[in-house]
Amino acid sequence: MQAVSLNVAISRVREGLLRFQKGEWAMPPKVYLESPPFGDFRAMPARGDGLALLKWVTSFPGNPERGLPVVTGIVCLSDATTGQPLMLLDARPVTALRTGAVAAVAAQALALPDACSVGIIGSGLHGSWTARCMAAAGYGPGVCEDPRAEAAEALAAELGWRAGSHEEAIRCDVVCCVTPGAEIVIDAGDLRPGLHLNMLGADGPGKSEASVGAVASCALFCDEWTQASHGGELTGAVEAGVVTRDQVTELGAVLAGDAPGRPGTEAVTLFDSTGLAIQDLAIAGAALEAWRAGQVRGQTVRL
Ligand SMILES: NC(=O)c1ccc[n+]([C@@H]2O[C@H](COP(=O)([O-])OP(=O)(O)OC[C@H]3O[C@@H](n4cnc5c(N)ncnc54)[C@H](O)[C@@H]3O)[C@@H](O)[C@H]2O)c1
Repeated sequence: MQAVSLNVAISRVREGLLRFQKGEWAMPPKVYLESPPFGDFRAMPARGDGLALLKWVTSFPGNPERGLPVVTGIVCLSDATTGQPLMLLDARPVTALRTGAVAAVAAQALALPDACSVGIIGSGLHGSWTARCMAAAGYGPGVCEDPRAEAAEALAAELGWRAGSHEEAIRCDVVCCVTPGAEIVIDAGDLRPGLHLNMLGADGPGKSEASVGAVASCALFCDEWTQASHGGELTGAVEAGVVTRDQVTELGAVLAGDAPGRPGTEAVTLFDSTGLAIQDLAIAGAALEAWRAGQVRGQTVRL
């Protein structure tokens, strides 16, 4: 996190989405390796700007009982011209920063131009980095909500925002949902004209934070259609047959000017983030530059 500031992360993630949209960066689909009954591994590759990356990251839901984190992993960054490994990074801070950054990029592209207040629903690890990136992008003040009152209060205090109820959080101009995706936190009745929703918590099969009715009522955007339609916020609505490919626009297409963004001031826009390896590449590339410029120190490992 010392290597890449919030504003650099936001601009690099925006650039990564653009480069992928233009076909200049490559990203094969994520590979899942089940490890039943414990959890799974995910291999996420990407290539661009002379670099190649593999994020090898886990989800082991029972780990807290063993005193271990649910998510752990390593990012390996290599030279794409020689194949030589250049840098190993802890996947957790890279993931947190790129996830928060894409929320700011989506809000800048899709929210109303005068949107400012931010509701954070789920103030855990990724909710906190989302809030920090939204604040860095000029949004706020905001309302942080979490059943763990201490988490919401700590985040609100850090940013000079306030902790509040669910009703207060969903009344904000931009609402970011970053819960584990085990229960619905946005229903159709929560939608108001002009609202922008960043749906970040549902990043895998079986998770959702918005009801199918709410999703179907929004102007829909996602990071990448294949991932979003199989393991994201859109999945339930796609499986129910109420949302089809032609109703969903990828954020990169909006950023590149290849597709329209918000359809009007009255629309509710919903961005489904599932998390892309190109976002990780954007952050890892910036970290490599910071290390080469002597801005951060790293340990040298001889292979
Ligand atoms: N889109 C992406 O790129 C991306 C990246 C990383 C993680 N994620 C996902 O984000 C989600 C959150 O991850 P995390 O690491 O921040 O988890 P976390 O456990 O640190 O935080 C989740 C928070 O949500 C709160 N919460 C639970 N139910 C809630 C509810 N009904 N209303 C409000 N708050 C509620 C919890 O108390 C907790 O503080 C997970 O599903 C994770 O897989 C998505």
